[in-house]
Amino acid sequence: MKLRLGVNIDHVATIRNARGGSHPDPVNAALIAARAGADGITAHLREDRRHITDADIALLMDALSVPLNLEMAATEEMLAIALRHRPHAACIVPEKREERTTEGGLDAAGQLAHLAPFVARLNDAGIRVSLFIEPDPAQIEAAIRLKAPVVEFHTGRYAHLDGAERSEELRRIADAAALAAKNGIEPHAGHGLTFDNVSPVAAIPQIAELNIGHFLIGEAIFTGLDKSVARMRELMDLAR
Ligand code: PXP
Repeated sequence: MKLRLGVNIDHVATIRNARGGSHPDPVNAALIAARAGADGITAHLREDRRHITDADIALLMDALSVPLNLEMAATEEMLAIALRHRPHAACIVPEKREERTTEGGLDAAGQLAHLAPFVARLNDAGIRVSLFIEPDPAQIEAAIRLKAPVVEFHTGRYAHLDGAERSEELRRIADAAALAAKNGIEPHAGHGLTFDNVSPVAAIPQIAELNIGHFLIGEAIFTGLDKSVARMRELMDLAR
């Protein structure tokens, strides 16, 4: 199975919004990423619109020939936007206004009743629902109960640990991927992945997709986005 790369373009919008104009354009970044080997584009429409805006989502839906994965909080506002645009996939993420980035996985096990109607309505609309969770059997059990076809494992802890602790976290991710796949759920992974740490995650055979943003956009400052995406694609393919 080919491992897909979803490129998260949020931080192109972060730079654009620093000056309030239209440059750099996240749609242009998405088109460059797709040409350089991205299999899909990911964008997180946050409640506070700190990077991606509603207009960006509309423009991405029009411009892209690869699938769009909309990251969203489980709120009525975001559900209405997802149902209006019907992206290929919607990844439900936890969201706190004060956080700098998505700091942990969704507590699907603790919020079954809240999440169930969101997952059901996205499923009914033919949007592929993914739950961004920690690599934890209790969270996978919740995804099974919610009938989510996809889970994305939060690799932030893995990315920030070293040595034996990192190996232990990698094992948790590999075990979680095997458990999800055994139960018919497609495992994805993402957060904090870089050229230096992507290979062991990419080597986990059940993982079907990695979503990577901050590092690729940062690296693009030095090498260009096409080169940073192409190098990530190459490392992922080599690990498989
Ligand atoms: N996947 C999800 C669900 C995320 O929320 C994020 C961060 O927005 C990513 C992947 C990408 O993480 P990073 O920007 O650290 O590569």
